[in-house]
Amino acid sequence: MKLILIGPPGAGKGTQAASICERFAIVQISTGDMLRAAISAGTPLGRKVQAIVDRGDLVDDGTVVDLVRARIAQDDCGNGFLFDGFPRTLGQAEALSDAGITVDHVLEISVPDDVVVRRLSGRRVHTASGRTYHIEHDPPQRQGFDDHTGDPLVQRADDEESTVRDRLRVYREHTRPLISFYRNLAASKSIAYTAIDGGNSLDNVRNDIVRALEDSSSAAQKSNNPH
Ligand code: AP5
Repeated sequence: MKLILIGPPGAGKGTQAASICERFAIVQISTGDMLRAAISAGTPLGRKVQAIVDRGDLVDDGTVVDLVRARIAQDDCGNGFLFDGFPRTLGQAEALSDAGITVDHVLEISVPDDVVVRRLSGRRVHTASGRTYHIEHDPPQRQGFDDHTGDPLVQRADDEESTVRDRLRVYREHTRPLISFYRNLAASKSIAYTAIDGGNSLDNVRNDIVRALEDSSSAAQKSNNPH
C-alpha cells in the first residue's frame, strides 16, 4: 500500500499517519520529521534548511525529492509507505511520477484555519521520534513528557501563531493545487482519492481513513479477481 496524506499544517497528518502505518504495516515518511532530524543533528542539510523551516517556507524541491528517493530505496519500504507532508508542490508531484514512483491512494484531510491555529498552539512533540501530542485533545500520560521514553516534550519553533498563518498561506499557494492534480488522476482511475473531514475527533478521523483504505483495497481485490 502506497499512500499520500495531504492537508494544511495541523490537519492531523502526522497523528493519523502513525496509526495508519501501524495498522497496515507500512512505513511513515515525513519530510518534515526528516528535515527536523537533520536540523537537530546539525548536519550540512540541517544547517542549510533551518531558517527556511523555522519561518514556515518550503525547502527547494530538489533537496526534498532527493531525500525521499533515498528513503524509499531502503529495504523497510518494501511493504509500502505513507508520504506525510510530501509532495507539497506540483514540481515535487511531477518529480515523483517522473521517477516512476506511483501511489495507490491520496487522502486529503481538511480543517479550517482557526482550528489549525488552536491545534498547533497546543501541540507538543517528542523530537527524536516525531511523536505528537496535544495538551487538551491528546495529552501524554505525564504532562510534558513522552509516553514511551519519558523524554521532555517541546513546542516546535514554527508553531507560533504568526508563523502558522504564514504556513497556511504557503499551503494555499503551493500545496492546494495538488488537490486538483490528484483528483484528476483519480477521475482517470489511476489512483483512489478520498477527502476526509479533519475537524472531527481524532477517533472519528482515524475510523474514516481506515474505512476508506479498506473499501479501496477490497475494490481493487475484486477488480483483480472478478470471480
Ligand atoms: P511538516 O512537519 O510536514 O509540517 P506541516 O505539514 O505544516 O504539518 P504539521 O506537522 O504542522 O501538522 P500535521 O498535519 O502533521 O498535524 P499533527 O498531526 O501534528 O513540515 C514542517 C516544515 O518542513 C515545512 O513548513 C517546510 O519548511 C518543511 N518541509 C516539510 N516537507 C516539505 C516538502 N515536502 N517540501 C518543502 N518543504 C518541506 O496535529 C497537530 C496538532 O493537532 C497535534 O497536537 C495533534 O495532537 C492535534 N490533533 C490532530 N488531529 C486532531 C483532531 N482530529 N482533533 C483534535 N486535535 C487533533
